[in-house]
Amino acid sequence: VTAPVIAIDGPSASGKGTVAARVATTLGYHMLDSGALYRLTALAARKAGVAWEDEAAVAAIAAALPAEFEGERILLSGEEVSEAIRSEEMGDGASKVAALPAVRAALLARQRAYRRWPGLVADGRDMGSVVFPWAECKVFLTASAEARAERRHKQLIAKGVPAKITPLLQDLRERDARDTARSVAPLQKCAEAELLDTSNLSIEQAVAAVLGCARERI
Ligand code: C5P
Repeated sequence: VTAPVIAIDGPSASGKGTVAARVATTLGYHMLDSGALYRLTALAARKAGVAWEDEAAVAAIAAALPAEFEGERILLSGEEVSEAIRSEEMGDGASKVAALPAVRAALLARQRAYRRWPGLVADGRDMGSVVFPWAECKVFLTASAEARAERRHKQLIAKGVPAKITPLLQDLRERDARDTARSVAPLQKCAEAELLDTSNLSIEQAVAAVLGCARERI
């Protein structure tokens, strides 16, 4: 019997990462932050002096990505990059390299290998549609662009990074448009996914909703 999968997809800053991590902790499941793999690919390309548009070269980097996940720490070639990959610039780079079919193909097997006993919570854009289409539980977690921009703004301010809402909102909208319009694995709610709009939900409420879905189906 294969391990069960909870697939959580949705746009940037929808709170997926936080919700996915809490659900994984509650259930004692493994966790796949697929966005981190695209961010790591963008950073590795930058370090190698490879342009984000160079599909073949970026795909070669993705296929041999020297990345390790040690709990909260993320390493690239042994160097800690947990903070570095979270910058707006690497978010932008991730969404550019993620639009290249060869890059997505290069990361597919690696993502599927995260499915291990007792179970996996996978967060991203195409977990339910492409990577784990047979997932027992699929959730599409979203929130209005305004609510997401406000959350991102609060996070940045809390970290001491100066930020303004208007450019953040514009950035989110651009990234949403790119993630939704691309030809491979576009950001899309699958028919069978449960829609969870968190604009007016607390993290606890969103976590409870996903756990409810897991209890019903796993
Ligand atoms: O989730 P996160 O913001 O870290 O993802 C960064 C970018 O990586 C997204 O904007 C998206 O373009 C891309 N991505 C993707 N497929 C995934 C996860 C992330 O295309 N499964």
